[in-house]
Amino acid sequence: MPTTMQAAVIDAYRQPFPTIKQVPRPQVRPHDVLVRIVAASINPIDLKTKDGGLKLLLPYDLPVILGSDFAGTVTAVGSAVTDYAVGDAVFGRVTKDRIGTFAEYIAVDHNAIARMPRNLSFEAAAALPLVGLTSYQALHDIMHLQPGQKVLIQGGSGGIGTIAIQLAKHFGAYVATTTSEDHFDLVQSLGADQSIDYHTTNFADVLADYDAVFDTRGGQTLADAFRIVKPGGQVVSIAGLPNARFGKAYGVAWWKRLAFGLATRQLTRLEKQSHATYTFLFMQPNGAQLTQLAQFVEAGIITPVIDRVVPFDQLNQALAYSQAGQAVGKIILKIGQEA
Ligand SMILES: NC(=O)c1ccc[n+]([C@@H]2O[C@H](COP(=O)([O-])OP(=O)(O)OC[C@H]3O[C@@H](n4cnc5c(N)ncnc54)[C@H](OP(=O)(O)O)[C@@H]3O)[C@@H](O)[C@H]2O)c1
Repeated sequence: MPTTMQAAVIDAYRQPFPTIKQVPRPQVRPHDVLVRIVAASINPIDLKTKDGGLKLLLPYDLPVILGSDFAGTVTAVGSAVTDYAVGDAVFGRVTKDRIGTFAEYIAVDHNAIARMPRNLSFEAAAALPLVGLTSYQALHDIMHLQPGQKVLIQGGSGGIGTIAIQLAKHFGAYVATTTSEDHFDLVQSLGADQSIDYHTTNFADVLADYDAVFDTRGGQTLADAFRIVKPGGQVVSIAGLPNARFGKAYGVAWWKRLAFGLATRQLTRLEKQSHATYTFLFMQPNGAQLTQLAQFVEAGIITPVIDRVVPFDQLNQALAYSQAGQAVGKIILKIGQEA
């Protein structure tokens, strides 16, 4: 049995691209399963990790293998694992201290994975874990979105937006979204009630009295969200700055909380002025929620949207395409063959 595998490795922060090379296969801990990866998805966090942009939250010892989510087949189980067996088709978002799904194998805690939806290919299943969990945690866990509430989802045609629109509609919300006019048909087919072309229109000039905004852009777009949210409403960002409240909940060191607090003074002021709550979300792996998402897929409630499927040896082109920021849905990396 071979002891090495192909993997996409970064040896130094800001190196132009990861290098695909032979590395040792991961060790399986008692609570892990070993998965032979068929497909993984590209996420903006891969580039942020490569460039060291998340070092305050995720300090990795280099070299590190890139990649956060995957779909594949279980080839071994740890001594404490009873809920998975060799041959199971699974998908997941790995824990943040043990990333590395741009590789032929990953060892992953069994609590971070779920059985793949029966009606999806490995490529389509790999599209879901990171964006599905992020959207679920924003709309369900934080916003507690209720039927009839109004939510704005920024970037409706992106990896996050395409799933978040479908989930928000399932929760019964009225959904506005921003995207290019070229993508209006797509976002409406996913359920969006109102589409705004961000090239020509500032959403804050045309929307008002929103219960919630799901911000995927940060910067001025995030600041403008406070102009449309009602008192008592929520602004949840995955692309803005973490604030001190997040730092406390995430258990970061006091000096990082201080730095977060200083960096988000404007957001704190906007929160007070609008009587809304700002939450920075850093999504968490969660096998139970992934099982819920798989059930939504099997019930036809959500369907992953795939921009393209790219062979593993074209990873660098796929990362460059992701960096350009115009992907429609998810970019999938095809790594291995099915069983
Ligand atoms: N904190 C967390 O836990 C977490 C989790 C997941 C993602 N994120 C972050 O969330 C962000 C979005 O992720 P993603 O996977 O959705 O990215 P993505 O798939 O790369 O987003 C691409 C989409 O963004 C749209 N877009 C570009 N500029 C826009 C603008 N100004 N307004 C509205 N839409 C715009 C593009 O639409 P057009 O082609 O029409 O221009 C394109 O469809 C990233 O910054 C990512 O790092 C954070």
